Formats: sequence, C-alpha cells, structure tokens
Amino acid sequence: MADRHDEARPDESSQSKNKTGTRFTRRGFLKGAGAGAVTAAVAPAILVSEAGKAAAQETEGVMSATVTLDVNGQSHNVEVEARTTLADALRDRLEITGPKVVCDRGECGACTVAMDGKLVFSCMTLAMDAQGRKIETVEGLADGDNLHPLQEAFIEKDALMCGFCTPGFLMSSKALLDANGDPTPEEVREGLSGNICRCGTYPHVFEAVTSAAEKMRKGG
Ligand code: FES
Ligand code: FES
Repeated sequence: MADRHDEARPDESSQSKNKTGTRFTRRGFLKGAGAGAVTAAVAPAILVSEAGKAAAQETEGVMSATVTLDVNGQSHNVEVEARTTLADALRDRLEITGPKVVCDRGECGACTVAMDGKLVFSCMTLAMDAQGRKIETVEGLADGDNLHPLQEAFIEKDALMCGFCTPGFLMSSKALLDANGDPTPEEVREGLSGNICRCGTYPHVFEAVTSAAEKMRKGG
C-alpha cells in the first residue's frame, strides 16, 4: 500500500507506464530509438495507444504528432516529436515556464507537475503520454490575482532564494496538503523529500507549508 511519502513524491511508476500499461521511459525510449530517431516499430504504437486522436506525420525520419494538452483547464494543440518531454512541450512550445528543468533526469523535482492529480516529473514524462490527462502547473495555483495560501506562505516565510526549486516545491506542497491538511513536521519533510533545493531553504519551506496548512484549516 502506498504511504503518504509515495503519494506526495512524483509518481515515477506512472511515468514509466502508458495507459495501456506498457512500460515506457524516456531513457528506454531514447535507447531503443537512438537519439533523435524513432523506429518504425516503436513510434506507431505510441501514437496509436497514447495519442489516438493525434495526427501523426513523419518529417525526415522524425515522427511527430499534434497532441492536445489540458493545462490548468485550458486545451492546447501542440506538435511534438515522439521524444518530446512534457517539460519541453510546456516550456518551449506553450511558454508555460513554471516547471523548471534543472537536472533533467528525475532527481531534483524542479519540473514537478500534477497529472490527473498525481505528481510527476515532467522531464521524465513524454508529452504524448500527457494527452487527455489533466495537467496542473504552478501557474494554476493562484485564483486570478489571489495567490494560493501556499504561495503567500512561501513569500511570508522567505522560503526561496534563487527560486528554481520553488514551483516544484509548491506543487508537492499542494499535493501534500490536499492529502493531509494537518501534517506533522515529519510528514512535511517526508512529503517534500522528492524535491531538492540547492540553496538550502528547507527550514523556511517546511515552515511555510506548516503555516499555510494552519491558515487553510482556519479557512484562510
Ligand atoms: S528537472 Fe525534472 S526532476 Fe529535475
Ligand atoms: S531556492 Fe535556489 S534551489 Fe531552492
């Protein structure tokens, strides 16, 4: 049974499976297909199973398709190659730059987004696997001009320095508080253990999350 730690951490297992249950990782894909090229055996299976509605096309040997991404409640049609990560599709194609790419290998959590309510590393998730899923990024946290209590608390508690890790921490913090509105300090640390801050702001981040939880419990 998954514990809170597993729920709050980016769901690496879901990243490695597509809807049909086929194991599929970016690394494995690149290894199998060769950097930049897509084999005829692999790409059609992805396009058919994951991007059923996508219009596949091949340009100079590189498979691409138009996928529809639902990001923060808005639909976007975007042309991606089979190897394009969700992080790259969001940042480079849609200019949704909240998710940061720092390690680009599923280790730091800076690129964390929610997909169908589960945290994923967007640098390790293929854009084609995100078709039809509900994607939430840090841009979706605020309600118009009103910041989310977590965002307010991060500012109040001075929980960021360079800020590269902050969007990921915010997404993980939100998932944590969605699952547990009154986490213990240990549960906060555990819930955020999938995120790394090179600037070492951890104590302030933990304080901010605890403060936001308290505020949210009081209806703030
Ligand atoms: S950039 Fe994705 S986990 Fe570090
Ligand atoms: S504030 Fe700089 S990496 Fe966290």
